[in-house]
Amino acid sequence: MRIDILTLFPEMFSSLEQAILGKAKAKGLVDIYLHNFQEMSDNKQKHADDYPYGGESAGMLLLPQPIFDTIDKIQKETPDLKKRVILLDPTAQVFNQQKAEEFVKEEQLIFICGRYEGVDERVRFLVSDEVSIGDYVLTGGELAAMVIIDAVMRLFPGVLGNERSVKCDSYSSGLLEEPQYTRPKEFRGLKVPEVLLSGDHEKIRKWRLKESLRKTCQRRPKMLEKLALTAEMKKMLAEIFHTKRI
Ligand code: ADE
Repeated sequence: MRIDILTLFPEMFSSLEQAILGKAKAKGLVDIYLHNFQEMSDNKQKHADDYPYGGESAGMLLLPQPIFDTIDKIQKETPDLKKRVILLDPTAQVFNQQKAEEFVKEEQLIFICGRYEGVDERVRFLVSDEVSIGDYVLTGGELAAMVIIDAVMRLFPGVLGNERSVKCDSYSSGLLEEPQYTRPKEFRGLKVPEVLLSGDHEKIRKWRLKESLRKTCQRRPKMLEKLALTAEMKKMLAEIFHTKRI
């Protein structure tokens, strides 16, 4: 996959190299291209922003020209890649696991990181997707782009080195992941549930499913409404409600 990032602050992306993306890059799964669109500005002072028409408005807007020209340049370099052009915007639909699963199928992702009050409205003609990472306003789209890139890259086959962890992800399966334990069996008086030490695979499967249902009920009950519940799940949910240990 090729990732292009349009930003005024390319240096912000250096931390991404350390984490999961570093692994993906080392394995040759992804190439990242950073574009400082300010450098594409056609005015002498290399301004990337200006005041909005109409006056009396809060702040500056990113100019369309440097962004359009950068996208044109990328398009010329990569005409054949199946791509998405993603604008980071706090007013857009909130990014979720489903979007991450969609994005990982593409050959190229192009992120436009907004700054200041936003972008000139005409920039939206360039984009295929507008995405927010939550209902709060950051100083720019850079952190949001990093969040999305991380969520997408870990779905790439071979990046995590453990395909089970992706399939069992909270949100991928429609249920939150059950509680997990590692060594020791007892820590400060807190014990690992007996069943997990039993070696009985069927009992463990049932325990995991029930705890996963319990956690989803507690934390994200709306997720259950979307799930096709099996007879086994219905029985477990009835037990969970009956014992009121939600
Ligand atoms: N830019 C500023 N805030 C943002 C947010 N919450 N999501 C995406 N882009 C943003």
